[in-house]
Amino acid sequence: MIPSQSCYFFSVVTLYFFFLVSFLPYTLASPTFRYCRHDQRDALLEFKHEFPVNESNPIPYDASLSSWNKSIDCCSWEGVTCHAKSGEVISLNLSHVPLNNSVKPNSGLFKLQHLHNLTLSNCSLYGDIPSSLGNLFRLTLLDLSYNYFVGQVPPSIGNLSHLTILDLWDNKLVGQLPASIGNLTQLEYMILSHNKFNGNIPFTFANLTKLFVISLYNNSFETLPLDMSGFQNLDYFNVGANSFSGTLPKSLFTIPSLRWVSFEGNMFKGPIEFRNMSSSSTTRLQYLNLVELDLSFNNLNGSFPAFLLTIPTLQWVNLEGNQLKGPVDFGNMSSSSSLKFLNLARNEFNGSIPESVSQYHNLEELHLSFNNFIGTIPRSLSKLAKLEYFCLEDNNMVGEVPSWLWRLTMVTLSNNSFNSFEESSGVLDIETQVQWLDLSSNSFQGPFPHWICKLRSLEILIMSNNRFNGSIPPCLSNATVSLTDLLLRNNSFSGTLPDIFVNATKLLSLDVSRNHLDGLLPKSLIHCKAMQLLNVRSNKIKDKFPSWLGSLPSLHVLILRSNEFYGTLYQPPASIGFQSLRVIDISHNDLTGTLPSFYFSSWREMSRLTGEDGNFRLSDVPYMGKVLNATAFFVDSMEIVNKGVETEFKRINEDNKIINFAGNRFSGNIPESIGLLEELRHLNLSSNVFSGNIPQSLANLTKLEALDLSQNQLSGQIPQELGSLSFMSTMNFSYNFLEGPVPKGTQFQRQNCSSFMENPKLNGLEEICRETRVPSPTPQESKDLSETEEQVINWIAAGIAYGPGVFCGLVIGHIFLSHKHEWW
Ligand SMILES: *[C@@H]1O[C@H](CO)[C@@H](O)[C@H](O)[C@H]1NC(C)=O
Ligand SMILES: *[C@@H]1O[C@H](CO)[C@@H](O)[C@H](O)[C@H]1NC(C)=O
Ligand SMILES: *[C@@H]1O[C@H](CO)[C@@H](O)[C@H](O)[C@H]1NC(C)=O
Ligand SMILES: *[C@@H]1O[C@H](CO)[C@@H](O)[C@H](O)[C@H]1NC(C)=O
Ligand SMILES: *[C@@H]1O[C@H](CO)[C@@H](O)[C@H](O)[C@H]1NC(C)=O
Ligand SMILES: *[C@@H]1O[C@H](CO)[C@@H](O)[C@H](O)[C@H]1NC(C)=O
Ligand SMILES: *[C@@H]1O[C@H](CO)[C@@H](O)[C@H](O)[C@H]1NC(C)=O
Ligand SMILES: *[C@@H]1O[C@H](CO)[C@@H](O)[C@H](O)[C@H]1NC(C)=O
Ligand SMILES: *[C@@H]1O[C@H](CO)[C@@H](O)[C@H](O)[C@H]1NC(C)=O
Ligand SMILES: *[C@@H]1O[C@H](CO)[C@@H](O)[C@H](O)[C@H]1NC(C)=O
Ligand SMILES: *[C@@H]1O[C@H](CO)[C@@H](O)[C@H](O)[C@H]1NC(C)=O
Ligand SMILES: *[C@@H]1O[C@H](CO)[C@@H](O)[C@H](O)[C@H]1NC(C)=O
Repeated sequence: MIPSQSCYFFSVVTLYFFFLVSFLPYTLASPTFRYCRHDQRDALLEFKHEFPVNESNPIPYDASLSSWNKSIDCCSWEGVTCHAKSGEVISLNLSHVPLNNSVKPNSGLFKLQHLHNLTLSNCSLYGDIPSSLGNLFRLTLLDLSYNYFVGQVPPSIGNLSHLTILDLWDNKLVGQLPASIGNLTQLEYMILSHNKFNGNIPFTFANLTKLFVISLYNNSFETLPLDMSGFQNLDYFNVGANSFSGTLPKSLFTIPSLRWVSFEGNMFKGPIEFRNMSSSSTTRLQYLNLVELDLSFNNLNGSFPAFLLTIPTLQWVNLEGNQLKGPVDFGNMSSSSSLKFLNLARNEFNGSIPESVSQYHNLEELHLSFNNFIGTIPRSLSKLAKLEYFCLEDNNMVGEVPSWLWRLTMVTLSNNSFNSFEESSGVLDIETQVQWLDLSSNSFQGPFPHWICKLRSLEILIMSNNRFNGSIPPCLSNATVSLTDLLLRNNSFSGTLPDIFVNATKLLSLDVSRNHLDGLLPKSLIHCKAMQLLNVRSNKIKDKFPSWLGSLPSLHVLILRSNEFYGTLYQPPASIGFQSLRVIDISHNDLTGTLPSFYFSSWREMSRLTGEDGNFRLSDVPYMGKVLNATAFFVDSMEIVNKGVETEFKRINEDNKIINFAGNRFSGNIPESIGLLEELRHLNLSSNVFSGNIPQSLANLTKLEALDLSQNQLSGQIPQELGSLSFMSTMNFSYNFLEGPVPKGTQFQRQNCSSFMENPKLNGLEEICRETRVPSPTPQESKDLSETEEQVINWIAAGIAYGPGVFCGLVIGHIFLSHKHEWW
């Protein structure tokens, strides 16, 4: 018996070994056995065949479902998992397989009644979610995220009473949630973000007491259940970007497990209260474990909720964009604070910034912009060794700016009344960090502060709208190496702009407009290969037209208006360049000469739509702490078309392509090639000595909104084709030698009579001039008139988007999601 026994033993081992080897790959891939029930297989195949299949020309999904083949065991098909013993399909995961169809009510899918997990994320599914979903009553996980499902969630979802995860993120679902959702008492994750749900949250919701994560972000929900105290497991609660109103649900803030909460972007009103505060001391909040709280952009009012900051676990608090009032009193922390981020911007806080702010010794970001804070920057702030971002713009702060601030990363002080800088004793010899420094619109005066030259990390320097005077110092050349934006507009700087740009290869925008600069434009600007915006408006620069700037590959905005530039735009055989221009304003200088008829043919950017590509989207903004390393940038607000009073535009629309040559001495014909600039919106050639006919090619500029050719020596007829330019709301042909009939188009007939006056041979004006019998204005009056009629427009230099104020705030809502799980 022993030999046979050993033989038997041997054979078992061999067999076992054989199994191991032959099933090894499969065993590693999936923990199931090679055993598939035929009814399950047939249901799967039925499901497969509901989607477009062409065996001889497999589209991508077919390639990934090619393993779904009768001659292979169905438990090893891609995305399929079977129960180890019964062979029932318990999990189907087809995420990212582009099924590209609707799910039929009688789909084979609903025969897979043993499914526990169903993941059809990003499958390009559309149409309604069929009611037959209720058949899959064993489901614990249902993930239909990233599809195009429409309609309402079927009430039969209440049948899925074992569901623990429901993820419908990013579909187009509408309407109210069915009351039957209250049946899903095992639910832990409910992710309904990025749909179009509206109405009330059904009261049955309160029964979902196991919920750990609730995200309703970006829908149109209107009311929350009153009592939320039952969610004793809740960790993450995000109802941001909905239409909720009423007061904050106090009951929510009795839940000890709750850590992340966002009410951002709704219409919640009333004071911030967590419970009946009158009967509870602040210490009663010690049991809360909140980490992040976002109440920004609501209509909350009342006073500063100091009690909030006593929650020891709290790291991140955003109250931006509410109507909170009165002084900020931090009180005294009894224990150590975890607070890293505090945003109080855009409220109505007043009083001084209390010295007690220094107790939040972990603070990294402090946003106080757009309030009514008064007084000076408190000395104790310097004790916050981790502080990196300090935003204080648009308050009523005064006095001296302390020099310790230069060790931070971002300091924005614009729109206050600061008037001086602390003597920088020694601070600048240690490492200075400051990358973003905004001193604009304060009461600073006197010479350019030389210590700024020593800020080696400076990327954005804004000193606009102060009373700085004297020259711009050459020592700034060291700082230009890292600078992306240098904005000095509207001061009293004088002398020549120094030749300091040899190494300014990162510079994107330079604005020295509205100063008293004279002399020449520095030739070293030619090294600013990244330059997108150059504005020297309203100085006394006396130089030849800088045609050499035409070689800068990204120059989008060039403003030389109101200086003493002279000479011609173009000297053959040089190339014309300026291929990226979107806005050029060289008006009110001394420029002369004729332009060859092909002159505009190289201005390619003006002839095309600025694609989405170059756009700055908020969603691209990375976590605030890294924003300065990103490509995001901004330029100072600036004006180009205005109503007499200078109006500043913070947001600029990329597609406003503008040419303003007015008030020079250009002569000869208007170049025919103007007709190539098909995206042009505003064209002003007034007050020059252009002669000859108005080129017919102007009729090509179908997006033109404003055209001013007044006060030239143009003759011949106004091309009748211009009558078809349907967006043209403002035009002026006055003071020329035009003749013949005014075009018939409605835009022409709507004009004021003065737009055509002083063209003795022009006819067909009876209609236009009948209503508005104003006395003929003088040329000067006519000019003023045309300026006031100019539409006020928002416009932009490329790729920009937000001034720092807005930036300091807006970005923040984003953070809430960005550093946590993406699928919320
Ligand atoms: C399947 O693909 C082949 C090859 O491209 C094509 O000739 C055939 O018409 C397609 N069949 C269907 C039903 O689309
Ligand atoms: C199924 O798989 C077998 C073996 O891999 C193969 O010969 C057959 O062509 C496949 N059938 C289909 C329809 O793809
Ligand atoms: C589904 O499959 C995808 C990719 O194949 C995988 O990333 C994901 O984790 C799976 N999901 C589940 C719930 O198994
Ligand atoms: C969706 O699937 C496609 C492939 O079909 C993939 O390229 C894309 O990144 C996926 N999208 C998401 C959000 O996962
Ligand atoms: C999805 O189907 C539609 C028609 O039903 C078709 O036009 C489209 O090209 C398909 N998309 C893919 C990615 O197959
Ligand atoms: C089903 O999903 C749950 C939750 O993600 C997971 O823990 C479990 O392993 C999945 N089961 C199968 C069979 O994929
Ligand atoms: C609900 O589930 C039960 C089994 O629990 C099943 O018999 C019934 O058909 C399902 N109802 C719907 C509407 O899907
Ligand atoms: C709720 O679940 C039970 C089973 O747990 C089921 O019988 C009932 O039909 C469900 N209700 C709804 C409205 O789906
Ligand atoms: C909620 O649960 C309670 C007790 O479990 C039950 O009596 C009640 O009917 C449920 N309500 C809803 C709307 O499902
Ligand atoms: C510029 O930096 C160099 C060293 O990098 C230093 O020697 C020089 O003094 C600096 N110039 C000014 C004007 O600060
Ligand atoms: C420009 O940079 C080079 C190399 O870094 C350096 O040698 C030179 O001194 C710099 N020039 C100016 C004007 O800063
Ligand atoms: C008018 O526009 C077309 C393109 O739409 C262009 O081919 C043509 O040259 C333009 N005409 C003139 C006169 O600029």
